Amino acid sequence: MDELAAARARFGREVLTLDDPVPPHPLLDGKAEIGRGEYSIVLDKGDGERVYKLVSSPADYFLYTADDRPRGKHFPIVYADHGIVGRARSGHPFHLMEMERLYPLDDGSPAGELAARLAGFYWAACEQWSRLGADMGRIALHHLTVSPLELDEGVKEALQALSDFVEEYQVLPDLLNANNLMMRKDGTLVFADPVFIA
Ligand SMILES: Nc1ncnc2c1ncn2[C@@H]1O[C@H](COP(=O)(O)OP(=O)(O)O)[C@@H](O)[C@H]1O
Ligand SMILES: [Mg+2]
Repeated sequence: MDELAAARARFGREVLTLDDPVPPHPLLDGKAEIGRGEYSIVLDKGDGERVYKLVSSPADYFLYTADDRPRGKHFPIVYADHGIVGRARSGHPFHLMEMERLYPLDDGSPAGELAARLAGFYWAACEQWSRLGADMGRIALHHLTVSPLELDEGVKEALQALSDFVEEYQVLPDLLNANNLMMRKDGTLVFADPVFIA
């Protein structure tokens, strides 16, 4: 995993978090913040099942709302789109999504090991195609869909769906940031936040 940590550091995609305040909204009043990334803020709904996610990246908004978004057990369940509730300092609107609560991967768990295998292969492919610059991640994801890794059918389908989505919406994959892959309470690996726009 050291190599992966180095890869993340090299991409500079681990440390950045947006510092925007949570916009005032009746659904968010008094809710505890449980996560923050470069483009999103996550608050606990308080029912143990769902979270509110403030999304400022158009890539994430497409991923969570598009009619043809990737679905299936390896993608997060989105319960509601509560609309635009403010604007991030980046200039992008904050869309308020209500989605299933997910959990960080445990290193030793099957989902954690699967994620590490995927990220490892993905990283190796990125290194191989780094001269392609911004296209590197898309090519690496394509390689993952045809990789010799032993993956179950559901995971292969999810990778293919993600790759199709990335091509269709011209967004970039991000499978290296540890927090973008999460798991469900039952241990299923979930691609929680696998895309971004540069
Ligand atoms: N559905 C979720 N349930 C619980 N925590 C989440 C969920 N989605 C994201 N998080 C947490 O919030 C952080 C930021 O979310 P992420 O989707 O990675 O945001 P960004 O779009 O800014 O990268 C993650 O690192 C994770 O800890
Ligand atoms: Mg993220």
